[in-house]
Amino acid sequence: MKIAVIGTGYVGLVTGTCLAETGNHVTCVDINTDKIEKMQSGILPIYEPGLELLFHRNISQNRLTFTTDLASAIDQSQIIFMALPTPPNGDGAADLSFILGAAKDVAGLITDYKVIVNKSTVPVGTAEKVKAIFKQYTHIEVDVVSNPEFLREGVAVEDFMKPDRVVLGTVSERAKKIMSDLYAPYVRQGNPILFMDEKSSELTKYAANSFLATKITFMNEIANLCELVGADVDSVRKGIGSDERIGKRFLFPGIGYGGSCFPKDVQALVKASDDYAYDFKILKSVIEVNDSQKTVLIDKVIKYYGDDLSGKHFALWGLAFKPETDDIREAPSLYIIKALLSKGATVTVFDPEGSENTKAIFGDKISYAANAYEAVKGADALLIATEWSVFRNPDFDQISVLMKERVIFDGRNLFNLDKMIDLGYYYNSIGRHL
Ligand code: UGA
Repeated sequence: MKIAVIGTGYVGLVTGTCLAETGNHVTCVDINTDKIEKMQSGILPIYEPGLELLFHRNISQNRLTFTTDLASAIDQSQIIFMALPTPPNGDGAADLSFILGAAKDVAGLITDYKVIVNKSTVPVGTAEKVKAIFKQYTHIEVDVVSNPEFLREGVAVEDFMKPDRVVLGTVSERAKKIMSDLYAPYVRQGNPILFMDEKSSELTKYAANSFLATKITFMNEIANLCELVGADVDSVRKGIGSDERIGKRFLFPGIGYGGSCFPKDVQALVKASDDYAYDFKILKSVIEVNDSQKTVLIDKVIKYYGDDLSGKHFALWGLAFKPETDDIREAPSLYIIKALLSKGATVTVFDPEGSENTKAIFGDKISYAANAYEAVKGADALLIATEWSVFRNPDFDQISVLMKERVIFDGRNLFNLDKMIDLGYYYNSIGRHL
């Protein structure tokens, strides 16, 4: 099949590359000339494990091309994916101007039937708005399909190639047939393609992310309670997770969820509910609890040292909002750095991928180490904000020599409590004994 993907952000690029991998011819379009030129010369602008290999393979086999020319991209393409940003506007609702603008541009260019697929996370009712634009600006028949993405950063290629499910919001039989053929290679194991109406599909995406954010937040509160009552959150997590109705996954407590999706989508669902005069109380609490969870590690530091941290030097391991990404959007690490600096401390950070993005925010206000060991040199304490695998089994003999004091505040529960006591550390983690 010939496919156009409008928008070469994270979702667009993963979608385009993975669709090319099963033999489709994909043209990715973007208005950013710089980005398109880079990709034309073989440079992948994002870090995502496994993507680089597929990106180069499909470019070299002429199945994946890049252009700024929308007309040439959609010419002969039967399916047009829209993977455009929907940033929150001032009051937390999703800004649809990119999507609706692109729909108008496409409507002005098409000359035969197309399936218009929306991959962006959009409020309920967006497919209707896109349909209305096509009706207004062209007489050519189109079907508009809502096809939310459930990719996780860091494992996006795997998620796309073997999705738990594909959700397709359309009532058009013609579009259903085309989209099932397109996705058939990805669900060979028998995972479902779920057809539903557009609104249900649009809401499914928000409901999924908000449910997961709620699950994490619930566990964070259980962890906070564990500390107060003297219970161990790891035991409680296993104790409840073995019940299949609850499930083992997404129960790891930490220092709050971050990233470009959960915070934005939970906000947007609350806003959408408000618009329908529905008070989505549980999600409002989730936002509130998550905001305070982001400062939990700093609260522990202050409790230990007092409010004035001047003269103290901290090492911070982990900047990215989660492992296997360079993405620092809404990352708890940013709150930690800001708080440490505002209380007079100095900070040296290390992250396998996130340092460049962090430099753009903090510049030379903090130091950037080349590796985890360099970061802890002379530190009064080590703080851990991201559970990169490389942090899980470090050489504590080396660390103990390099650090000024053996003090660790761990926001991701990386180490065994007994081991840390044996090594002579003050080790303060989340929801576990001191
Ligand atoms: C999330 C969803 O998991 C994807 O299904 C969805 O497609 C995506 O948002 C999106 O809307 O585009 P992502 O933001 O990449 O994916 O990251 P997750 O792996 O879901 O992690 C989100 C946050 O939850 C991170 O800050 C992570 O540290 C935190 N988390 C996750 C926990 O604190 N505990 C857990 O047990 C799991």
